Amino acid sequence: MDNQYYAGIDLGGTSIKMGICSPDGQIICEREQATPQGHYENVLEAFQQMLHQLLAEAELSPKDLAGVGVGVPALLDVEQGNVYEIVNLGWKNVPLKAELEKRLGLPSYVDNDANTAALGEMWQGAGKCSRHLICITVGTGIGGGLIINGDIYHGALGLAGEIGHMTIRPEGGLLCNCGKPGCLETETSATAIAYYGRKAVDEQQETRLTQTLKQQGVITAKDVIDAARSGDVVSVKILHHVGYYLGLALAQMSNVLNPEKIVIGGGVSKAGDFFLEPIRENFIKYALNKVSETTDIVPATLGNKAGWLGAAWLVHRNSRPGQNGGK
Ligand code: BGC
Repeated sequence: MDNQYYAGIDLGGTSIKMGICSPDGQIICEREQATPQGHYENVLEAFQQMLHQLLAEAELSPKDLAGVGVGVPALLDVEQGNVYEIVNLGWKNVPLKAELEKRLGLPSYVDNDANTAALGEMWQGAGKCSRHLICITVGTGIGGGLIINGDIYHGALGLAGEIGHMTIRPEGGLLCNCGKPGCLETETSATAIAYYGRKAVDEQQETRLTQTLKQQGVITAKDVIDAARSGDVVSVKILHHVGYYLGLALAQMSNVLNPEKIVIGGGVSKAGDFFLEPIRENFIKYALNKVSETTDIVPATLGNKAGWLGAAWLVHRNSRPGQNGGK
């Protein structure tokens, strides 16, 4: 039977992840390769090649695909599939959907990377069977996807879900890349955790991160988490700082949106409960009691498959209108 599989792509600043899945989300095959730099045509070329390789590996032909979905780390016009800007790749005003359809000859759908990760987790991951989810990714930045009634909430212009740019520390907060002070991203992202680790060393606080910096020349978020796990008081304090702001932000969002679950993904979430516990404590402190009692905060389970699977779900949604949702 034709048109029965979906292709999904997760375009990141450093790598492209692509896969093919069945209509019930079973992974047929997947690949990952470095993101070509320079003109956006180079990326489209890579998409085309990767898709050919995947189709060959799965012994499928393009007519077996119902379409292709793509998640991009950008603000974009979801309806038209036009990307306004991808800062990390130097793209500006790219008509991505039109370009993909021309090149691949398949119906194509485009959304923000954190939105597709949220859809992936709803479809096949930690949010399976939930219709109301808040998903955040804690990585270089803080990404957010709001799932309401089994689909992404885009807002008026497609800009909804920019959780990382909630102003959480209006006084004394650091300046964010977005140009505003005190964003959640500047206090709680992997970049922020590494920054606070380095700051502690520079201030000559007593911490084993001093040794790490000497050995590696750099401090990462993982180093801070590892040090905290082994009892380093300064690192534990940094994770409490992060837990305070994430817990506070998620409590406020949950009082407004009343999700079933909050799914926390991104590289940092791999630290599991050790990272999640301070978030949960502050969530319970600030959310309405009924909200905190009925909202689970759980780690994402799909790792780096969430983005491309969620992008494939965009095809699923468009080929089976009226049957969307994580059920
Ligand atoms: C951007 C989001 C993106 C997130 C993670 C944030 O700084 O504003 O659009 O999803 O980083 O990549």
